[in-house]
Amino acid sequence: PRPDTFSTTDVRGPTHDAPVGRPRLSIVVPTYCEAENVAPTITAIDAALTGISWEIIFVDDDSPDGTVETVRSFGEHDGRVRVIRRIGRRGLAGAVIEGMLASAADTVAVIDADLQHDEKLLPKMLENIEADQADLVIATRYAQSGAADAGFSKLRQNASTFATRLTNLLLRTNVSDPMSGFFMIRRDAIDKIAPNLTTGGFKLLLDILASAPAGLKIAEVPYQFRPRQLGKSKLDALVIADFLGLLLSKLSGNSISPRFFLFAFVGATGLVVHLATLRAALTTTHIPFNAAQLAAAFVAMTSNFFLNNALTFRDRRLTGIGAFKGLLSFYLVCSVGTLANVGVAELIYLRDASWWRAGIAGALMAAVFNYAVSSMLTWRK
Ligand code: GDD
Ligand code: MN
Repeated sequence: PRPDTFSTTDVRGPTHDAPVGRPRLSIVVPTYCEAENVAPTITAIDAALTGISWEIIFVDDDSPDGTVETVRSFGEHDGRVRVIRRIGRRGLAGAVIEGMLASAADTVAVIDADLQHDEKLLPKMLENIEADQADLVIATRYAQSGAADAGFSKLRQNASTFATRLTNLLLRTNVSDPMSGFFMIRRDAIDKIAPNLTTGGFKLLLDILASAPAGLKIAEVPYQFRPRQLGKSKLDALVIADFLGLLLSKLSGNSISPRFFLFAFVGATGLVVHLATLRAALTTTHIPFNAAQLAAAFVAMTSNFFLNNALTFRDRRLTGIGAFKGLLSFYLVCSVGTLANVGVAELIYLRDASWWRAGIAGALMAAVFNYAVSSMLTWRK
């Protein structure tokens, strides 16, 4: 281990000079609305790291609750604490990646700001890396004595177990908690992997595992996941959908974005809505088929719009008058997409004479077109 370059005791107070040299450990703490948790988190980490020089980088997505100001006022007397304020962006993975890339030490840890992760594990994790036993250490809620899960609902536990099995199966990994938000990694490994990471989602570790070069040494240390004391969780059911999108995207070798899979999934629900509406209209009214088909198309487009707004593009969610304009532009995009669908299907049918190959090609064409254009027009950044 390297000698510490700056004092780790008695550092608070206006007389403390900015640290010289690099710390031994950088800790990245993503935050969204965690103002009340900032001080307890810093204090806990500081106490856990006696004898180890550190820096803490908070990465905040412009929380309205004053998280940034709280960290800054701390940083005024302690140069080891700083905050990156991100504007116009939301997303845990992206925030953590930015924090890691801004870190100074050779080793970087990621830990949540709500004290659910056990910070007392940090020295042991660091030891693992510095002794060259691992390049990536995952603090896991499941291995051996790491009893899961005081902090999780039954539903979250089941979903989590299912997701873990699926991940290990598909990525051919064997880690007990690939969804952990608490881990430590060599800085140079992150520099290499960073360009392949997806910034949108919640599951950064999963993404790191999928993108990791062969030969990356992985170790696990168990811990007890604690219940949240203050504030509330930002994870919801939609995160499961994100997770599936990310997994499929990785399986496609990064060539298809996770967002496209969500869009395609919504499209598939639209087909069901369309057929159900068509059937209902034909059986309960006497309107002609054409009119029923048109009505069904509008109902399906409308439901697709709101689902995409709530799921696929929820980081750019449209509200109020914006949602109304968005809906109109979505109708327009989908209408052109339908023309493209029919055109492409016709072309293929003329050459190939297979109705289903032509049908699938047309539908794919429409999906790609609707996705590309609606993400530029309806949900433009
Ligand atoms: N910058 C930023 N942007 N931070 C965010 C965002 C965001 O969009 N969303 C959440 N965070 C921060 C929270 O403020 C918190 O510090 C941390 O990310 C985790 O969010 P929680 O809302 O507390 O998530 P959780 O407790 O349900 O789940 C966490 O722990 C699990 C177990 O380790 C996450 O880390 C999961 O990924 C993890 O599986
Ligand atoms: Mn939490």
